[in-house]
This record gives sequence, structure tokens and C-alpha cells, in this order.
Amino acid sequence: MSLLTDFSIWLGQTPLSAAVTGYDWLVPALQVVHILAIAALLISAIHINLRAIGLLEREILLAEISTRFLPVLWVALGTLAFTGFLLIASEPNRAIFRTVFWIKLALALFATMATASQSRLAETAHVHRLLALGALVGWALVIFAGRWIAYADPWVGAPG
Ligand code: HEM
Repeated sequence: MSLLTDFSIWLGQTPLSAAVTGYDWLVPALQVVHILAIAALLISAIHINLRAIGLLEREILLAEISTRFLPVLWVALGTLAFTGFLLIASEPNRAIFRTVFWIKLALALFATMATASQSRLAETAHVHRLLALGALVGWALVIFAGRWIAYADPWVGAPG
């Protein structure tokens, strides 16, 4: 807890934080990029996982669909991490001290691993479809948690 507090105070005093908050339009612009990256990520994740379930493009091999869409997922994820970090730098206390933010990151890790591992599993494996379903639910929950950050209460005793 105190490590996070120290990190939050340090980040809020960096030139990066001053730069992001120095322009009124920058935080909304970062949010727009964050949302566009979510769209790109979802297009990729939905394609891979619906193909794994067998509801989409069944005539194309899952490995081929993964090869086509995974690069989009990695670029989108990198963009989300970058814009997400800048959003945190703009107001460090806002996300860091809310449980839902950490739940969101854990869910994103699970959904990423589940989506990326699809091409390595045998297409006939039962776990294959279950994992794809889990990944789709996981991505939906990541979005829910992302929106919830704005409405959740911070931890008791968190810096204001
Ligand atoms: C990978 C690292 C990520 C970081 C560090 C991050 C961080 C953040 C932060 C700080 C916010 C602003 C919350 C607020 O102040 O209200 C946010 C919003 C949001 N994030 Fe992320 N995020 C990440 C990835 C993702 C992913 C993978 C998704 C979904 C696929 C996602 C979906 C959202 C949504 C839906 C919002 C609300 C946007 C809005 O209302 O404008 N994020 N994120």
C-alpha cells in the first residue's frame, strides 16, 4: 500500500504528469485513442474466439485466423497499455487505489492468454471452446471494469 502511495506521489510530480495535464484536450484525446484501440482489440479477439467456437469462418483454419488477427491484438494491447499509463499519469490516485482497476488488469491478462493460446490448442479439444467462451466473457468484463473505475470508491485510507 505505501509503495503504491509513494509511486502515485512520485508519478504525479513527474514532468510527464505535468505534460499530460498541461493541455485541456489531451486527456479526452487519450481516452478516444484508448476506445479506438478497444475496438481494434475486440475485432481481433472476437474473430479468433468465435472461430474457435465454430461460429465464424469455419472453412478457414483457426491457425490462419490467429496469424491474421493476433498482430492486431498485440498492437491494440500496446496502445491500450501506453494510453492507459498516460491516463494514470494525468491523475495517479484515480485508478491505482481502486480494486476494480486491478481486477481489470488481471482479467485482461487472462483474456489475452486465452485468446493468444487458441492457435496452439488442438481444434477438436473440448477445452478449446470453453476457453474461447471464457475469453469473450473476460473481454466483456474488462470493458465493464474499465468503465467502472470512474464510479468505484477508492480504498479506505487512500490518498485523496
Ligand atoms: C493494458 C493496460 C491498461 C491500462 C493501464 C488501462 C488503464 C485505463 C485507465 C487509467 C482508464 C481511465 C479510467 C478512469 O479514470 O475512469 C481506462 C479506461 C478504460 N479502459 Fe483501460 N487500460 C488498459 C487496458 C484496457 C483494455 C485491454 C480494455 C478493454 C479491452 C480497456 C477498457 C477500458 C474502458 C472501457 C475504459 C473506460 C473508457 C472511458 O469511459 O472513457 N482498457 N483504462
